[in-house]
Amino acid sequence: MAAALTDKNGLPEERLFVVPTAEELARAAAGRIWGIVRERAAVLPRCGKTVPRVRVALSGGETPRRTYEILSAEPYRSRFPWELVHFYQVDERWVPPEDPRSNRRMLHEALLSRAPVPADRFHSVDTGLSGPEEGARRYEETLRAAFPDPPGGFPRFDAILLGIGRDGHTASLFPGAPLEEGSAWFMATAAAGDPPVRRVTLTLPAINAAAQAIFLASGKEKARALHRVLSGDPVLPASRVFPVRGKLTFLADADAASMTLSKGGIKR
Ligand code: 6PG
Repeated sequence: MAAALTDKNGLPEERLFVVPTAEELARAAAGRIWGIVRERAAVLPRCGKTVPRVRVALSGGETPRRTYEILSAEPYRSRFPWELVHFYQVDERWVPPEDPRSNRRMLHEALLSRAPVPADRFHSVDTGLSGPEEGARRYEETLRAAFPDPPGGFPRFDAILLGIGRDGHTASLFPGAPLEEGSAWFMATAAAGDPPVRRVTLTLPAINAAAQAIFLASGKEKARALHRVLSGDPVLPASRVFPVRGKLTFLADADAASMTLSKGGIKR
């Protein structure tokens, strides 16, 4: 099922797609990333870019794990233009990379160790630095080298894959905490979430500068948060994601969408 959430000037700007199961959700997400990358890879040489590249930011947590595994396997594995795609982290928990809570570790297990991603195409947060502030500053340098002088002052990722927490957080932007820090693209946050650790994250304006933001929501425990986000509850950081010159897509399984669908759909 698909629903256009808003329709400004006759053009749908947000879309919700609901599929029956978590496995179908992962397949839909992999297909969507593949579609965006393929389209960008086809267009870039015509834009006169000497070194074409597609830039994608990936979330951690558990929901996208299966999506990454699917992308790493056939039929995508041998068709995906791995050489062209640069992967970045949406956020990271400030733990060593071998820690089970590390997003980098999850990305490694599900994608980087399985797919032929060249080592210099994955740009990881270095949690071996002195602390989250230094880590955020250094990662922002990495991003600024990849997006020199972007129009509007923020990086335009081709796609950002996001999750939703039960409390309505996204990336490592939590309710009640700052969502931005001046003109910063990446910032350190206080300890939050489950597990409650310090984190580093893309800022809200950096997320909202993307060409495409795609949310994944799976399971009954996400139903209330997804419903509140789709209702536009401004308290929730995930509700504040709205790419200013891009597209916003919500992919949900039936359990995650259950409250939205039973309450008669979408309000914003
Ligand atoms: C993180 C994430 C975070 C995640 C949500 C959902 O590091 O925690 O990147 O924003 O997407 O917490 O997490 P789950 O997919 O594990 O439910």
